[in-house]
Amino acid sequence: MDVTVAPETTQETHISISGVSKTFQTRNGTVQALQNIDLNIQKGEFVSVLGPSGCGKSTLMMLLSGLDTVSTGRITVGKKHIDKPNPDAGVVFQQDVLLEWRSALQNILIQAEIRKSDMGEATERARQLLKMVSLQDFENAYPKELSGGMRQRVSICRALLHKPPLLLMDEPFGALDAMTRDQLQIDLLRLCSESDMTVFFITHSIAEAIFLSDRVVVMSPRPGRIEKIIDIDLPRPRRLAMREDPRFIEYTRELTDIFKSLGVFREEY
Ligand SMILES: Nc1ncnc2c1ncn2[C@@H]1O[C@H](COP(=O)(O)OP(=O)(O)OP(=O)(O)O)[C@@H](O)[C@H]1O
Ligand SMILES: [Mg+2]
Repeated sequence: MDVTVAPETTQETHISISGVSKTFQTRNGTVQALQNIDLNIQKGEFVSVLGPSGCGKSTLMMLLSGLDTVSTGRITVGKKHIDKPNPDAGVVFQQDVLLEWRSALQNILIQAEIRKSDMGEATERARQLLKMVSLQDFENAYPKELSGGMRQRVSICRALLHKPPLLLMDEPFGALDAMTRDQLQIDLLRLCSESDMTVFFITHSIAEAIFLSDRVVVMSPRPGRIEKIIDIDLPRPRRLAMREDPRFIEYTRELTDIFKSLGVFREEY
């Protein structure tokens, strides 16, 4: 007897962005930042967004976090319709927003205070996170005593403190030196492998997007639209040496060509 078993579906949509546009009213008129964005992201997926400056990447992240609202369209995260700040999301902003009067550790613990979590447990996890980003000796340092990269690492710890099911990161490694950046990419991937956290990651770096992601979303210049979505079919765990893999180089070429065709890269000089 022929028994057909339905394939097991392990994929579950975590984020659904449907027909989303965003316009801003400014003194100089209306700015259309995003135009008709449709994107579904699966639970546990790592999706990077690549696009030129001003194409609406940060705007899209603000909409996902619920810190700003759509002009048209609809966003759901899990079963929630997002029209107000979503406490399940951990957010790392493009510019670190640390409170100057609180130490590194106290800045991270804000998350726990707001959520009224157990402070003993939260402090222990905050210290583990500081160690992960090599800042264990700086828990009592104030933001003004930290370098730009160190401040950003504290922001990353703060976003991760409550083990968010969704992590939204806006160019989190942009201000870091290349070596710290490589290490933090690995640390982030390890954290992801230990949880089923969904990550929405904004970057300007083609190599970073390929290295980290399951899919790379390419956005066109303003008004931001999704130009192309590329599946990154590289095995996990990812290793730094994979950056020399012919498939990695091919993805780099493909993405570079898209940006050339969009006029983002111009080679004549
Ligand atoms: N609060 C705001 N009010 C008015 N215009 C805004 C606002 N936020 C963003 N914009 C405009 O929307 C467009 C997209 O901005 P956004 O910050 O999302 O770009 P981005 O892709 O993150 O750029 P970058 O890579 O430089 O960070 C820009 O033209 C910007 O001027
Ligand atoms: Mg931005």
